[in-house]
Amino acid sequence: MTAPWAAGADLVVVGSGVAGLTAALDAAAAGLRVVVVTKDAADAGSTRWAQGGVAVVVGDVPGDSVDAHVADTRTAGAGLCDPAAVASILTDGPAAVARLRARGAVFDATPTGALERTREGGHSAFRVVRAGGDATGAEVERALVAAARGAGLPLLTGHVAVDALRTADDTVAGVTVLDDAGRPGMLHAPAVLLATGGYGQLFASTTNPATSTGDGVALALRAGAAAADLEFVQFHPTVLHVPGRAESDLAGHRPLVTEAVRGEGGVLRDRTGARFMLGVHPLAELAPRDVVAGAITRRMAQTGAECVWLDATAVEGFAARFPTVTASCRAAGIDPTCEPIPVTPAAHYACGGVVTDVDGRTAVRGLYAAGEVARTGLHGANRLASNSLLEGLVVGARVARAVIADLAAPRPVLVGTAPLPVFAVADRRVVQRAMSAGAGIGRDAAGLAAASDAVEAATGPGPARDRAGVEDAALTLLAAAVLAAAGTRTESRGCHVRTDHPDRDDTWQRASLQVRLDRDGRPVVATEALAGAA
Ligand code: SIN
Repeated sequence: MTAPWAAGADLVVVGSGVAGLTAALDAAAAGLRVVVVTKDAADAGSTRWAQGGVAVVVGDVPGDSVDAHVADTRTAGAGLCDPAAVASILTDGPAAVARLRARGAVFDATPTGALERTREGGHSAFRVVRAGGDATGAEVERALVAAARGAGLPLLTGHVAVDALRTADDTVAGVTVLDDAGRPGMLHAPAVLLATGGYGQLFASTTNPATSTGDGVALALRAGAAAADLEFVQFHPTVLHVPGRAESDLAGHRPLVTEAVRGEGGVLRDRTGARFMLGVHPLAELAPRDVVAGAITRRMAQTGAECVWLDATAVEGFAARFPTVTASCRAAGIDPTCEPIPVTPAAHYACGGVVTDVDGRTAVRGLYAAGEVARTGLHGANRLASNSLLEGLVVGARVARAVIADLAAPRPVLVGTAPLPVFAVADRRVVQRAMSAGAGIGRDAAGLAAASDAVEAATGPGPARDRAGVEDAALTLLAAAVLAAAGTRTESRGCHVRTDHPDRDDTWQRASLQVRLDRDGRPVVATEALAGAA
């Protein structure tokens, strides 16, 4: 079927989280005609679920520095960060946060007006600024959506982006979309920004909302772009575990229990009450989150328990400081002020994604990516907590400038219409079960191969008829790509833990695994040397 309607803009932004709206607002302020396309409500993406905060050095914390933030980021990234990208993005952080505050975002402050700070795993200082106690993402999203509405930015909600429109020379020239009723349309634009978030919905248990189905990475791969570091799926150590729930009920979004609870004194205990992180890492509960998530997984296996417990009963003023966590716990019948919170790890953040430079440009002309969907080199093998909102703010603003610069050059014009594609699609439940069983924390060759076989056996052709079909196709492609990359990387590094290759192997130290699609649309993994990775 071809699209019954078509519209034009200078920039189409797919996704309305922190990176997408920052780019859209800046581009519109510079005079570009911008359309923001989002498959749900404007605030339904990942941004609003971020609890901890924004990691940023603004110079008011004695002893802290951008250099220390860079060092912590590179330590967490386990040798695969791009040092130039880390320095570039983190250095721009203070200005990006100042622009966000000027747009109306309100951060928690002390009575004297100084920004409140918290600390999370892997940070050597209290440098994370926060809003609403543990509702930072919600405040960031509120401020940006309000600014977008105030600026009269066109928001096309209830539309899923299906595929890139491309000219004969493979320049991206817009996107095809489907509305909630499955009616197709075309948005022509010389610049398309993917800001669609991650792919936590690949797993049966995740902190990500229902929108995080990897659509942007899938669209970019089909448009000819490369994705990298897809094997580095970060598992958050602590989501609320509701006792008695079957695994089949756990699909989808799980309530996060922010790392800041541990940053402010919460400790992890096993079923005997023992504080098991003390012997694992010098930073104990504040070790990088791959270390904590791995230790929790091992402790659960050793003790035969379904979860461990986060004891925050000694944290003063818990309910006021962590209102979101308190509400989730109380909804599950747990009072975190006087009893430990049952927690397990869950899929949380895609450290890899569409390969871009630090201005959000992909290798495909006309196609840009920013935020969790992109891989700039900031996160390496493991993202440092609260670096993601910062990356979205910084790179979102840079994309707007990059698009303005790039539009100065003449573009080929797209003529004609684009048929809606037929994708390779597997049932989402099959994909989630296979990925959780074979590609979670602690992977091995046999488990990865079994997951791959299960997904492949369930895959068949499916026309892109509606949002669910587009999402299922994206999840199917992402599953194959993540499994291929995870199978290729025969070492443990950052949040990629191979039980059959438990050690870091320095032959992989400067290697990033890049995924592209072959002629048949299948992911192919290639090893790319990283300049200066560390
Ligand atoms: C958290 O609040 O624990 C999550 C923060 C993050 O993932 O950056």
